[in-house]
Amino acid sequence: MNHVPRTAQPSTNRLQRAYEKPRIHMNAIELLTTRASQGKLSEPAPDDETIRLALEAAARVPDHAGLRPYRVHLVRGAARERLGELMAQALRREQPQATVDELAKARSKALRAPMVIVVGAVIRPHIKVPEIEQVLAAGAAAHAILLALHARGYAGIWRTGGPAYDPDLKRAFGLGEHDALVGFIYAGTPTAPAPRLTRATPPEFASEWNG
Ligand SMILES: Cc1cc2nc3c(=O)[nH]c(=O)nc-3n(C[C@H](O)[C@H](O)[C@H](O)COP(=O)(O)O)c2cc1C
Repeated sequence: MNHVPRTAQPSTNRLQRAYEKPRIHMNAIELLTTRASQGKLSEPAPDDETIRLALEAAARVPDHAGLRPYRVHLVRGAARERLGELMAQALRREQPQATVDELAKARSKALRAPMVIVVGAVIRPHIKVPEIEQVLAAGAAAHAILLALHARGYAGIWRTGGPAYDPDLKRAFGLGEHDALVGFIYAGTPTAPAPRLTRATPPEFASEWNG
């Protein structure tokens, strides 16, 4: 992988800035086998071209009967504060005894990254496609978005928690009771190398099946 270093602070020089744009060259297998979540994220947020590519990738996921259940909302700038407020309200509903500090912490969560990408699944009753398959397609879209961020030198982490299951918060993203808020993808520029997690080795989860 030839990763041109990017810094969290964009250069003030325009030419230098163009050079610093994500220019990562890696083949598809490298991409798939090197993605890792990163929660330490700062400005700049993924640029418009990266978002365009990420959404194209999301539209390529396997999708039984072409139901297109995935929904994506980009939350950036001040909108993150409104999302944070919804997260705090969700916590208050889940834990009415939550302290002021806990609510403040919940309120600040959406500010942990310059962009939060909310991925949902709109579930349609279908004779051949049960709900789980529609949620899986939206989950695949979330993974495709993470991979596109990685390919372009950005990073992200997929989170859920109580707010993802809160009916009022879901409604704010156009999701009804039977729909799913699949995840909040926190996205931005990594400020540190991704944590080195021990990965499962194929023999732990894969085997030859002979009946
Ligand atoms: C549906 C789903 C929900 C998740 N929710 C959270 C979460 O709320 N908080 C968290 O720290 N990690 C959460 N994770 C895990 C992280 O996204 C990440 O996968 C994990 O930290 C391992 O890192 P890796 O992606 O590099 O393997 C979730 C993952 C999935 C698939």
